[in-house]
Amino acid sequence: MTTRRILVAYASRAGSTGGVAEAIGRTLAEGGAQVDVRHMNDVEDLEQYDAVVAGSAIRGKAWLPEALEFLRAHRHELRRKPFAAFLVCITLAMPMAAGHEEFVASFMQDVRALVKPVSEACFAGALDYSKVPLMPEGIQLRVLSVASQTPPGDYRDWDAIRAWAAGLGPLFGAASSGNAAGLGASGHVLSMAL
Ligand SMILES: Cc1cc2nc3c(=O)[nH]c(=O)nc-3n(C[C@H](O)[C@H](O)[C@H](O)COP(=O)(O)O)c2cc1C
Repeated sequence: MTTRRILVAYASRAGSTGGVAEAIGRTLAEGGAQVDVRHMNDVEDLEQYDAVVAGSAIRGKAWLPEALEFLRAHRHELRRKPFAAFLVCITLAMPMAAGHEEFVASFMQDVRALVKPVSEACFAGALDYSKVPLMPEGIQLRVLSVASQTPPGDYRDWDAIRAWAAGLGPLFGAASSGNAAGLGASGHVLSMAL
């Protein structure tokens, strides 16, 4: 059997999504795949990859514009490959997060409209004032933090991230003929990391 090549592409502003992408990449590599973890800006073409995982930080309840642009630019090729998507946000770290899973999953709707993932995951990220410019992001972040009673900190759940990544290997194998045709709602996994 040939080694599968998997791309983990991410968009991040303050770094926490890059860390999640690296952890996903390490888990996939431990499963025997040959994995490249790249910022989306550094990806030119997807031809060499058998499957793609893409993820973005959330701002304003949506994927970053550059991440959606990446999906738009590569949508035809992504629809022919197994494709999984994740997002990194702070809502899942908030004390009132329980019961809001559907709300957070809605941050993925622009993604689904472009390319239907065989698996989706929503992970809690990090709040770090030092990683964003004070104006306007720092102010926005402080307001978000105070209003939601979520102090700055790193809320990434590495066990949940690794568990989702470990489940992708078999899913990618099953969807190797292309995600659009191969997997419908029954192949759709939503994992929430609180
Ligand atoms: C300006 C700004 C807006 C944000 N908007 C949201 C939001 O709408 N919903 C949410 O859950 N998290 C929001 N966040 C939190 C980020 O998604 C979170 O900090 C994430 O870990 C950032 O990823 P990054 O470090 O890869 O940039 C926002 C953060 C900033 C700085």
